[in-house]
Amino acid sequence: MMEEMFALRAKQTGNSDLAELFKLSERPDVISFAGGFPDPQWFLPEVEEIGLEILRDKRDVALQYSPVPGLTRVREFIARRMDKQGMPARTENIMITSGSLQGLDLICKVFLDPGDLVVVEAPTYLGAISVLDSYEAEIVSIPCDSEGLMVDKLEEYLAGTAVKPKFVYTIPTFQNPSGRVLNLERRKKLVELCSNRQIPLIEDNAYGELRYSGKELPTLKSLDARDIVVYLGTFSKIFSPGVRLGWISAPGYLINKLILFKQSSDQTSSSLSQLLALEAGTRGLIEKQIEITRKGLKLKRDLTVNALEKYFGDNGQWTVSEGGFYTWVQINGPVDTYKALEPAVKEHKVAYVAGRSFYPDRSGENCLRVCFSLVKEDYIEEGIKRLARVFSLA
Ligand SMILES: Cc1ncc(COP(=O)(O)O)c(C=O)c1O
Repeated sequence: MMEEMFALRAKQTGNSDLAELFKLSERPDVISFAGGFPDPQWFLPEVEEIGLEILRDKRDVALQYSPVPGLTRVREFIARRMDKQGMPARTENIMITSGSLQGLDLICKVFLDPGDLVVVEAPTYLGAISVLDSYEAEIVSIPCDSEGLMVDKLEEYLAGTAVKPKFVYTIPTFQNPSGRVLNLERRKKLVELCSNRQIPLIEDNAYGELRYSGKELPTLKSLDARDIVVYLGTFSKIFSPGVRLGWISAPGYLINKLILFKQSSDQTSSSLSQLLALEAGTRGLIEKQIEITRKGLKLKRDLTVNALEKYFGDNGQWTVSEGGFYTWVQINGPVDTYKALEPAVKEHKVAYVAGRSFYPDRSGENCLRVCFSLVKEDYIEEGIKRLARVFSLA
């Protein structure tokens, strides 16, 4: 009964898929391709020493509040790192966040009134859908093909609508959930389209540094001459999701508003985490971990696609990602991967995320996301074999 007291947005938001995922992944007998977690074997033991050092020598800073936008040295470190990656960034345009999802949350807080239009690619990150839902956004989905977001379709949509969307949210590199990459021509066109129409373009680059095959492509941010891109970065996949640290690089007109809302959200991100990431970064450990992660992911991607070939064969299609954590599987024929999830976990002891979780309109019935980053190498084939059984393919 007390639920009646909830605000409309809480009554309307029923998507708890993300929370369910975290629960599922904890059951020891289940092979879980569900949560987008890094493999803890990639975490570096050197971090222990750094942690002790920080608590011994920098306790005054580590256990204290930090400035709202983050410790200046950490912001400088991020700006230098982005610079090296071809993305000119100024320290004053960078704000540290408690994970990049907080970055998106704060962006929504600044831009969105209930009912405002936001454009996403479909499928897209389910955490982003939840955040947008919580701000009562009207989500417009533009489809993807094998080369990522279909920018032509976005152009068509924008030409045909009288209402300007508040922003476009995209994951151009090793997309979650599909692993796809937006090609260069479309990257240029997307930046140009948003610049010409003055629509903020949110680039979520959670996986961009985790390429293990193919050719490096410029980020949208590095193609952005007119300050239209708002860039979301995170330490979660390259260092540790446990430190809960990400960052936003935002144009001048936006950064101060973000800082204001950050203050009323959580005041500041953990100083201890910031120092840990900074020290690991300046000692080259983040780059070392990225190398280890890339190798580990490549091995797991290969094991996953080989097993899909063996057990799914002609019964479906899947993406062969060149980086990141995911393979997106489409099963031929009428299946409902959402309905199949419960028996998958309870009877077959295998978990995944159903396709519909990644579509604002809950389509994608015959699709599923397979995250191969956390599953131990020796269990990948068995896990895919169990998945094939779920869909009566083996
Ligand atoms: C595309 C994308 N963006 C953002 C996030 C959130 O990451 P963080 O841990 O930095 O909040 C994730 C996590 O899976 C992700 O896949």
